[in-house]
Amino acid sequence: MTASGILERHGATSLIDIAIERARDGDASALFFSGSPGLGKSALLDYACESATGFDIGRCCGIEIGTDIAFGILNQVMAHMGASDEIECASRVPNVERLPFAAREFLRWATTQRQRPALLLLDDLHWSDHESLAIFHHYLACRKRAPVSLIGAFRPWPENATTFANSLSRMRRAEILELRPLSAGAARQMVVEHADGELDGAALEEAELACQGNPLLLIHFAKSYRRHPETEHSRARHCEEIPSKPGPNVVTLIGDEPKTVNYARVASVFGAKFPVSVVSQVSGVEARGAIEIVDKLSRWSLLHANGSFAEFTHALVRELIYDSIPELTRREMHRAIFAELHRIGYEPSVMAYHAVCGDLRGNQAAVEAAFLVGDRFWKGGSPATAKTWFETALAQLS
Ligand SMILES: Nc1ncnc2c1ncn2[C@@H]1O[C@H](COP(=O)(O)OP(=O)(O)O)[C@@H](O)[C@H]1O
Ligand SMILES: [Mg+2]
Repeated sequence: MTASGILERHGATSLIDIAIERARDGDASALFFSGSPGLGKSALLDYACESATGFDIGRCCGIEIGTDIAFGILNQVMAHMGASDEIECASRVPNVERLPFAAREFLRWATTQRQRPALLLLDDLHWSDHESLAIFHHYLACRKRAPVSLIGAFRPWPENATTFANSLSRMRRAEILELRPLSAGAARQMVVEHADGELDGAALEEAELACQGNPLLLIHFAKSYRRHPETEHSRARHCEEIPSKPGPNVVTLIGDEPKTVNYARVASVFGAKFPVSVVSQVSGVEARGAIEIVDKLSRWSLLHANGSFAEFTHALVRELIYDSIPELTRREMHRAIFAELHRIGYEPSVMAYHAVCGDLRGNQAAVEAAFLVGDRFWKGGSPATAKTWFETALAQLS
């Protein structure tokens, strides 16, 4: 995204410009943006990517299920830079030596003289594995002059990335900027731009109230307003069937057609990316109906369909739907998903995740899945995560 497309983030874009100039001069700096989903963290990393002319760029993005994959973020960013071998060799040393070995290798790689400076853009660091954060921390704490700099983004929760960035900031090795919602003026401007200027005063007021300055929600509000200028919005305001947290109403996003709501809810319980057929089976929507729903939600920019899978276009979209489900229903949905995954013999880590969220105890299949996942992490060099899964397996025995 160019600076001209970003509203009200002059402070953030100036910090990026400064960080890039410092990095060009060989200062190993780090800049982090923190904020709730939808506030524009990734958009700022896009801006940094465009602005860093003459740099080698490595970009990566944490994913929810990746937090337990040791060195996952580091491997991703190194692969993007075409330097996978530098860290890959860590997998050849025994488990307990892997972290110090990889830290040394990364430091060696980052401090090597190179033709162009490098910039690592690390998105969604709240979903980073522990090992990658430890290595970036070690590098920044050790080196002030080096040709590799970092710009990252994370949400305040889970708090591992916040703790990591705060620690660097206390050592004066990183700057953190917390993103705030847009002002009422900028929010109105965004809605008008995305709704092609067709909104009246009442709708603008509603957008302001419902979206609370969150750019992503403002875009979806404008889009849904374009679809149903009258009905959907007045319904959304008064709808009590679907409980929602204060803030934007989920009906504004997905409407209130029961099959669509049920399908979207089960999908949100499954995860950011979900198999269309499993969600169809669990939500009781027949295959053809499921395809129509996925098509419809894709046209509304809420999902991307990709073969037999579909994915929420943004974590916030999924969260809003997930948060609108009553807690007991949510737990039942996790259990039903687990049962279906077990029936078809799905990937154990996904099964284990749903068994935990569904609070399944005394279920043999849940115990086996948790044990298998623990064993996999143990063999993969992540003993702390392995221990957590073995403990989960034990707890599920009771
Ligand atoms: N300040 C802004 N001005 C205009 N559009 C924005 C702004 N911030 C975010 N957006 C748009 O809002 C959407 C969500 O932003 P995104 O960067 O994905 O949020 P985050 O990464 O914080 O979850 C994107 O379409 C983005 O282009
Ligand atoms: Mg993002």
